[in-house]
Amino acid sequence: MKLFIDTADLKEIREIASWGIIEGATTNPTLISQQEGHPHEILRQICEIVNGPVSAEVVSQDCEGMVEEARELSKIHKHIVIKIPFGIEGLKAVKKLSEEGIRTNVTLVFSPSQALMAARAGASFISPFVGRLDDISNNGMEIVAQIVDIFNNYPDIKTQVIVASIRHPMHVVEAALIGAPIATVPPKVLRQMVKHPLTDIGIERFLKDWEKVKDRLK
Ligand code: E4P
Repeated sequence: MKLFIDTADLKEIREIASWGIIEGATTNPTLISQQEGHPHEILRQICEIVNGPVSAEVVSQDCEGMVEEARELSKIHKHIVIKIPFGIEGLKAVKKLSEEGIRTNVTLVFSPSQALMAARAGASFISPFVGRLDDISNNGMEIVAQIVDIFNNYPDIKTQVIVASIRHPMHVVEAALIGAPIATVPPKVLRQMVKHPLTDIGIERFLKDWEKVKDRLK
């Protein structure tokens, strides 16, 4: 499973990209609103750091507006993928954009039927929101598993699932066990994934023992 970073925070993206584990990034209007500066400039800089798809979301409500915005956003950088909120207007926009060769990521997907429709409209990616489903007492990962199964049943579907709205490391592990191709993970969770107390204790013990051998190197 590939790991994307789910933030618009350039400092975090720069730092975590240097770990060598990030293959894409996702943003949304909320994440962009938390940063200073022109949204297009933020997106351009993310694209310079991350060598992979970078999702930029449209805010128009109708197909025409979405397509117009998408054309503008895709001029920012070749890494840009257009995030389109799920809905009838969104499906129409995805169809049109796929015909123009503009990649899309259909967002706010909460059911397998929505995922299937987005795929058939020609979405390059779809983003089911696990955490937000869990928040309302639904099993978000069960929905992801069903979507992955459906897409695997039909090899002509080339749409990739990006597991989104991830809240903790177990979401990432579960997504990988299901066989989801991509998870987009907030910096906080990526940092939690690094940590294991036994790794820290192990390093401490090795360094302590090495002290006893150090003199022999002279
Ligand atoms: C990414 O594509 C989504 O916009 C993001 O994961 C949503 O996360 P949230 O539900 O924590 O806001």
